[in-house]
Amino acid sequence: MSVLIKNGHVVTAESDYVADIYIEDEQIVAIGKNLPYKADKTINARNKFVFPGGIDPHVHLDMPFMGTSSSDDYESGTRAALFGGTTMVIDFILQTQGKSLRHALKQWQGRSNGNAVCDYGFHMAVTDFNAKVAKEVVTFIEKEGITSFKTFMAYKGALMIDDGQMVQLMKVVKENGGLVTVHATNGDMIDSLIAKFRKEGKMKPIYHYLSQPEVTEAEASARFTDMLDYADCPGYIVHMTCEGAMNAVREATIRNQKVFVETCTQYLTLDASLYKRKDGAKWVMSPPLREKKDQEVLWSGINQGLVQVVGTDHCPFTWEQKQMGKDDFSKIPNGHPAIEHRMELLFSEGVKKGRISLNKYVEVSSTNAAKIFGMYPKKGTIAIGADADLVIFNPRTKHVLSHKTHHMNADYSSYEGFKVTGKVETVLLRGKIAIDKNECLLEKGTGQFVKRGKTKLAI
Ligand code: URP
Ligand code: ZN
Ligand code: ZN
Repeated sequence: MSVLIKNGHVVTAESDYVADIYIEDEQIVAIGKNLPYKADKTINARNKFVFPGGIDPHVHLDMPFMGTSSSDDYESGTRAALFGGTTMVIDFILQTQGKSLRHALKQWQGRSNGNAVCDYGFHMAVTDFNAKVAKEVVTFIEKEGITSFKTFMAYKGALMIDDGQMVQLMKVVKENGGLVTVHATNGDMIDSLIAKFRKEGKMKPIYHYLSQPEVTEAEASARFTDMLDYADCPGYIVHMTCEGAMNAVREATIRNQKVFVETCTQYLTLDASLYKRKDGAKWVMSPPLREKKDQEVLWSGINQGLVQVVGTDHCPFTWEQKQMGKDDFSKIPNGHPAIEHRMELLFSEGVKKGRISLNKYVEVSSTNAAKIFGMYPKKGTIAIGADADLVIFNPRTKHVLSHKTHHMNADYSSYEGFKVTGKVETVLLRGKIAIDKNECLLEKGTGQFVKRGKTKLAI
């Protein structure tokens, strides 16, 4: 199968220009003006942007969590990703405390094998570190193509590890060329605030927000970067939301530490006033939405190069699932549906509103994730020899987000009625037309597991 994309406005993290792109089989073979190729399919991309396929390195598909499972499975979640211009996701495997990493890998493979529509990789969440696990970490990096290790400083009793385990893990990961990633919030402080609110009978969703004040994230982010410094290890903080946590990273970069930061579209676009609503449970996620001042700090963090990646932390639940916590905010499954809207929201709120440049848009939605997580330049750019993961994007189309039109398996939208400018029109996954005219043309099983390489520290 060959495809010729004609006259598109090609955008990468470094450049933009009008050109044709010729694709054979799965890869980009030529880029240039008036390419002399005849293809099986020709797409006219005049006046449209052509972006590298989006990479969302923070999703939770079919994940057992808080007494239920996230409502998008591999098929529905990765299909929704493609509709939104994301051609690769990285999901989180969770180790069960007391069991091996391998045991968890097999569970996740059982759910993902043959079911993904877009490409995917895995991060491994280490929730119980010991000498056996240390050996598995080495094997995962060398043999499985799983090179990033997630840690939780919260969710005590289920996912959290203590600081001693954290530092030991950092040392092993550092020696073997991997990356430690973290959910950085102070679990003990949060648990004690939850207990206090429960005692006072304060159980509405707003108390989820109040039980995770900014200091819980700022403190944990600073502690994490200090431990990284001690272990001389590179790190990546997921879903950063606030000014205090950004300041911890600013400090670390003054020490010339390699600490990468991810924020998510919801923290750039939504704020904590939503928790006052009757349906505030829809936005119960951890960390919670913050204040408008934090949004500005995150946008400027992107421009300062302190925030390298924008993900989603897609972890959807249906409204019925959210009702598990109707009388107790601490039982509301944490997370929201988002995988589909990242590229369009970031374009509309970022590029269209003049907050970030086109190149920065590509950098934070695709290129940096590919570099940090060991997939570049196969993924994350438009170049000869790269996978032909491409998005043809109309920057003028205005539309409104709604659960009635989204493809995620969630019966509500966190963005119901949100107006965006710019729409994903056509998506190619390794040279195959994945999305066209609002239809997905790929079957489940088309998505491949991507083995990732070691961490490149200079991005
Ligand atoms: O609320 C969230 N973020 N749910 C998913 C698990 C996590 O902490 O990332
Ligand atoms: Zn988290
Ligand atoms: Zn998450």
